[in-house]
Amino acid sequence: MKKIRMIVNPLDRKSHINKEIYGHFSEHLGRCIYNGIYVGEDSSIPNTCGIRNDVIEAFKKINMPVLRWPGGCFADTYHWKDAIGDKIDRKKMINVHWGGVTEDNSFGTHEFFKLCELVGCEPYIAGNLGSGTVQELAEWVEYMTSDDISPMADLRRANGQKKAWKLKYLGIGNENWGCGGNMSPEYYSDEYRRYQSFCRDYSGNQLFKIACGPNAFDYNWTEVIMKKITPWHMKGISLHFYTVPYANWEHKGFATVFSDEDYYATLSETHRMEELLTRHSEIMNRYDPEHKVGLIVDEWGCWFDVEEGTNPGFLYQQNTMRDAIVAAINLNMFNQHSDRVIMANLAQVVNVLQAVILTEGEEMILTPTYHVFDLYKEHQESTLLYSYVENEKIEGQYYDAISHSASVDKDGKIHITLSNCSLTENYEIDLGIIDTDVKSVSARILTGDAHDYNDFGEVEKVKPTEYEVKNDNGRLTVAVPPCSVIAIEVVS
Ligand code: AHR
Repeated sequence: MKKIRMIVNPLDRKSHINKEIYGHFSEHLGRCIYNGIYVGEDSSIPNTCGIRNDVIEAFKKINMPVLRWPGGCFADTYHWKDAIGDKIDRKKMINVHWGGVTEDNSFGTHEFFKLCELVGCEPYIAGNLGSGTVQELAEWVEYMTSDDISPMADLRRANGQKKAWKLKYLGIGNENWGCGGNMSPEYYSDEYRRYQSFCRDYSGNQLFKIACGPNAFDYNWTEVIMKKITPWHMKGISLHFYTVPYANWEHKGFATVFSDEDYYATLSETHRMEELLTRHSEIMNRYDPEHKVGLIVDEWGCWFDVEEGTNPGFLYQQNTMRDAIVAAINLNMFNQHSDRVIMANLAQVVNVLQAVILTEGEEMILTPTYHVFDLYKEHQESTLLYSYVENEKIEGQYYDAISHSASVDKDGKIHITLSNCSLTENYEIDLGIIDTDVKSVSARILTGDAHDYNDFGEVEKVKPTEYEVKNDNGRLTVAVPPCSVIAIEVVS
């Protein structure tokens, strides 16, 4: 057991942690929407308006703050008018990006807003800039948000939704440097400016417009976007970065089959998020020192090879304690960068990539990643505090063993999240909270072998349990086992 020290300083309050940092992403991809979230009203699986009740409840439990939809690459092929009105009349299309399957458009705008309403989260619409038109996107905004007398508001009313919805987050295009049109940043910026001009604020609704940001390390993209689009026209810029072991997209390896070396290589890759957040923020600081534009990491997470026997276009992968550690590290990083990072959306929410939920027929499992979101939810809408750990590097790696962040909520409770990335080392943390009269302390832990996962038939192999933190007159001692995630709450 190695003894190390940690300090949290509640006198050093830093940035606000937006709840949207704990956001999610749902795409018309594989079994994320269909046979995942949405089973249809005639399904024998208990549902509300076709949306699985168990999924709704699970989303609510982690206080899901925001959900991005309908893609992804799919967004830039999506034509919203094909997915409104009577389901029988909705146009069918081929989902060209994901498996070439038939999309029957039975889940469209109305169904998405119903889902958000049932969960109590903000909708985040990704608009089609790549293959759509300005008119099409402008009309979608009008359809969703206008209470006036207008062709689109009338159409929405005719389709059964009398009152306009509120829509805050509007993305204008997705990965327009790639699947969204293979554009240069200069060309995209001009297109963005044109599109956003016609996405208006109707009936008291206020859009928060988000530009397509860089592919991971493409710093030039951020530079050009920040130079060419003013904060007047853009409130957020997105960033996409996936964790792939060894950054080897040809041989990503399986989600459940990996060596210790692969585990540490995965964490090595995921820690590159720190470099991305720092360097993109530096560029943004030069153009936007007042932080009017937020960095929105609207796609992140582990991307492994699909499970054997599943459709390669469906991106279905299992989820182990390795994923949980990746989630814990990234969420701590987002908290630490919350002066600039205002939203993040894990890819993707159900049955795709680093999902928080997996389903099979009527069964549903909560993955280790889900439990990390549950452990971390108290950080939502709190204030980041200074925290320091007397850390050491993982042997042979450039990153620290203990990932951490701390915050104070509106009631004055302090929340500390810790993750031990080591597979072998036990730490004992001597935790000092400055200027704080600790009245009580409680904690929960998620831990196990890095390969542990929940499966159909064994749904609770990995789940959080209550955990003891020693309190010796305000001096706290936390034992942090290998491959673990711990959430501590301190009441003073
Ligand atoms: O999340 C899967 C895909 O990854 C998304 O559709 C796309 O935006 C990204 O390349």
